[in-house]
Amino acid sequence: MGPVTAHLLDVLGYDPDVPEVRQIDVPVGAIVRARDGTREVAVARLRSGKLVVVDDRCPHDGGRISDGWVDGERLVCARHGWELRVDGGRCVRDCKQRE
Ligand code: FES
Repeated sequence: MGPVTAHLLDVLGYDPDVPEVRQIDVPVGAIVRARDGTREVAVARLRSGKLVVVDDRCPHDGGRISDGWVDGERLVCARHGWELRVDGGRCVRDCKQRE
């Protein structure tokens, strides 16, 4: 039998220190960094108790959403203060940089 080769489909570059999204428990009002396979995500428990998972990349300028915080039913990016609805990442209030 000759050499066996594998066709490379993807390079897995995820951080094994970041928990898989299905392995974490998030309390109300908290947001944490996680991964879904190789995808970096932010997992947040909104004030209503709803658990949401979003890409961990702010639509404004790429800040890490998981560095921010939960404000009611919205996520706030720590980098410039965008307040994001979880359904699509649209900025809903105060898109200016906070002091
Ligand atoms: S990168 Fe998130 S508000 Fe600017």
